[in-house]
Amino acid sequence: MEEFLTEKIQDEARQGEAYAPFAGDPNAYKKHFYIESYGCQMNFADSEIVASILHKEGFGATRNVEEADLIFINTCSIREKAEQTVRKRLSDFKKLKRRKKGMLVGVLGCMAERLKAKFLEEEKLVDIVVGPDAYRSLPALVEEAVSGQKAVNVLLSREETYADIAPVRLDSNGVSAFVSIMRGCNNMCAFCVVPFTRGRERSRDAESILAECLDLFENGYKEVTLLGQNVDSYYYQPEANGSKPVTFAELLERVAMISPLLRVRFSTSHPKDITDEVLHTMARHHNICRYIHLPVQSGSTRILQLMNRTYTREWYMAKVNRIRETMPDCGISSDIIAGFCTEEEQDHQDTLDVMAFSKYDMSYMFFYSERPGTLAQKRFKDDVPEEVKKRRLAEIVELQGKLSLASNQNDLGKKFEVLIEGNSKKNEQDWKGRNSQNKMIVFPKNGMDLKAGDYVQVEVTGCTQATLIGKIIE
Ligand code: SAH
Ligand code: SF4
Ligand code: F3S
Repeated sequence: MEEFLTEKIQDEARQGEAYAPFAGDPNAYKKHFYIESYGCQMNFADSEIVASILHKEGFGATRNVEEADLIFINTCSIREKAEQTVRKRLSDFKKLKRRKKGMLVGVLGCMAERLKAKFLEEEKLVDIVVGPDAYRSLPALVEEAVSGQKAVNVLLSREETYADIAPVRLDSNGVSAFVSIMRGCNNMCAFCVVPFTRGRERSRDAESILAECLDLFENGYKEVTLLGQNVDSYYYQPEANGSKPVTFAELLERVAMISPLLRVRFSTSHPKDITDEVLHTMARHHNICRYIHLPVQSGSTRILQLMNRTYTREWYMAKVNRIRETMPDCGISSDIIAGFCTEEEQDHQDTLDVMAFSKYDMSYMFFYSERPGTLAQKRFKDDVPEEVKKRRLAEIVELQGKLSLASNQNDLGKKFEVLIEGNSKKNEQDWKGRNSQNKMIVFPKNGMDLKAGDYVQVEVTGCTQATLIGKIIE
C-alpha cells in the first residue's frame, strides 16, 4: 500500500498540471515560459501569480515544453515522495536542455525555499531558484540568468501577500477558482515543513480579496475557494485609522454576500481555530458550502500532543459534534498521518476510532515522512518501521473506503443542487458537478440546454465509493 492512493485522488481533484493559455497573439511575446505545479492548492494559486508577473514582463505562457525558453517547476516539500517527484521531472528537463541551448530552468516554491542555493549544487541544470515570497523579483532573476549567472532569491517576507496581483487563471474550467487569503503558517505542527518553507502567517487585504471574488463572479465564475494553511486564523487590520479588523467569519460573510449564485468554499481549517461564529455564518448563508476539511492527523491524544496539534481527541470529537449540531447536512473530511514517531498499536486504533466517530466523507491519508528541520526531526526518532506504517495506512485507507461508501449510500434518493463543472471524464453524454457537500455527482445530460456553470437539481440514484450517480429533476 503506497501513499499514491491518496495522491492520485488529490491530483484528479486538481486536474493535473497547471498551464497558462496563450493570451492573444503568441508572437506578441518576446519569450515563452512553461510552468508545472506540484503540492497543495496554494502552490497552484501561486503559479497563477507567477504567470501574471511574467505576462506583464512580456513572457507568454505555453503548454508545449518544447517551445519554451523558460521552464518553471513549482515544487512541494511536504513529504519525501513529493521531492522525489520533482527531482524526476528535473531529470526529464535535463535531457531537453541538452538539446535546446539557451533554455533556462527555474525552481519555485517550497523545495526552492527549503534547499536554497544548495539546489544549484545538487541539480546542475537549475539556473534560477525562487522562494514563495520572492516571485516579484522573477523578471530580474530571469535577466540575471540570461546573462549567464545563477539567480537565487529565497527571502521570506512578513508582509508579502501579492494582494495587488491579478492571477492569470491557469487551466481553469471557468466555473471555480481558488483565491488566496493568507500566506505562511504560525502553527508548529511537529511533522510539518510548511512553517519553514512558507514563513510567518500574514493575512491579505480584505478589500483585495473581495475585489478578486467579485471580478471572478462578473467573469462567469460560480465558485470561489478561499485558501490558506489555516484560514480560521485570518485576521486583517486595515491601515486606515479607526477601521475595524476583519475576522475570517466576517470575510466569509462578505464574500458570500457578493451574490447568492456564487458558491463559497474554504480550506484548510485547523480544528483548534474554527469558531462557532464561522459555523453560524455558514449556517446563515445557503451559498457557503456545507463542507469542512478538518484534518485530525491522529486520533490519539498522546500522539496529538507530540505532534503539537494543541487539541485532544475529545476536543476534536466535540468539534465534530458542534458542526453536526449547527449544520446536520455538513460534509466533513480529514487528513490523517499513519506511523508518527512512537505511535503504538493502541494509538493507531484510536485513529481508526475517531475516523468512525467522525464519519468522514473523504480523507487524504499519508504515512509519516520525516522532514529535515522540523520539530519532530529534531526531537523524536522516526521509529515506526516502514512496513508497520504501511500496514496501518492500509487499514486507515480501507476504513475510509467503507466510510465513504456508507456516506454515499446514505445520499441515495436525496436531491441536491449541483453546480455543473463540465463533461464527465468517462462519458461526454454525462455532466459532472459537485453538491454543496463537495461530493462529485455524475448525471446524464438528457438533451437539456445546460452548460458548465449552471445550477441544476439532481436526485441521487446510485453511487460508488468515490462518486454519486444521479438524474436531473425536471
Ligand atoms: N495546513 C493544513 C495542512 C497542510 S499539509 C493543516 O494544518 O491541516 C497537508 C497534509 O499533509 C497535512 O494535513 C498532513 O496530514 C500531511 N503531512 C504534513 N507533513 C507530513 C509529513 N511529514 N509526513 C506525512 N504527512 C504529512
Ligand atoms: Fe503544517 Fe500545521 Fe501549519 Fe498545517 S497548521 S501548515 S500542518 S504547521
Ligand atoms: Fe507542499 Fe508547500 Fe503546499 S510544502 S503542501 S507546496 S505549502
